[in-house]
Amino acid sequence: MSDEEIAAFAARGLKVNKEPKFQGYEPETKAFEEAIRQANERNSEFVVVCGDMVNNSESTEERDEVMRIASQLNENIPIYWIAGNHDVAIDAVVPTASSMASYRKHWGDDYYSFQHGDVSFIALNTSLMDQPEHVGGDVESQMRFLKAELQAAKKRESSQIIVFTHYPLFLADADEADNYFSVKKAHRMPVIDLLEEYGVAAVFAGHWHRNNYAEHDGMLMVATGAVGYPLGDDDSGYRVIDVTNDEISHNYYEFGFR
Ligand SMILES: [Fe+2]
Repeated sequence: MSDEEIAAFAARGLKVNKEPKFQGYEPETKAFEEAIRQANERNSEFVVVCGDMVNNSESTEERDEVMRIASQLNENIPIYWIAGNHDVAIDAVVPTASSMASYRKHWGDDYYSFQHGDVSFIALNTSLMDQPEHVGGDVESQMRFLKAELQAAKKRESSQIIVFTHYPLFLADADEADNYFSVKKAHRMPVIDLLEEYGVAAVFAGHWHRNNYAEHDGMLMVATGAVGYPLGDDDSGYRVIDVTNDEISHNYYEFGFR
């Protein structure tokens, strides 16, 4: 990568090493295979990929490679996909009706919920929130879904409610200014208010390629570094989340590749 390109990344707070640009995705294959191997070894209850499963949403080759590796996960371990900006938008920013249809065809629902024990989990598509201009009624549908799921979680007396997203809702403060890495302020606040109203304990996100820890009125907002190329101080890795009825603990594990 050139000095100019590295400087452009640095200006956005991203740390890129001066290495030759890599053609192909062998490093990602190696990292994702290692993540799956370790999930099998841990016998995790389930695996969540917090988005950007692919770089190019139109690439069948990339998608097939993700699925090939994911199929190495033990059959008793479910894997949940979270919709990332690279998965839902051809330009990796703005989803459209057709790009969302393509996502749903290949990856399944982009917002959904699941239960594990007494804990309720909700997956959201943050690209719909952040870039709602070309996705018709999907934005309102997702908000209706979220409210209904939170009400249902409360009704079934869930011990914890945990949300997974791709974009962090915020990086440091819920009322921070718009930035590239979190959901735009105007769109994030109604979601945060709703999560707060129903006592959501934590939101776990990806997107930033670095670990980040924030909090808003007791709700954790955690971004986890990427399985792929790291853009912060930590190496590539994954996060293990332990949830009991009273407590959420989580730790980041590095692969040690660099
Ligand atoms: Fe992303």
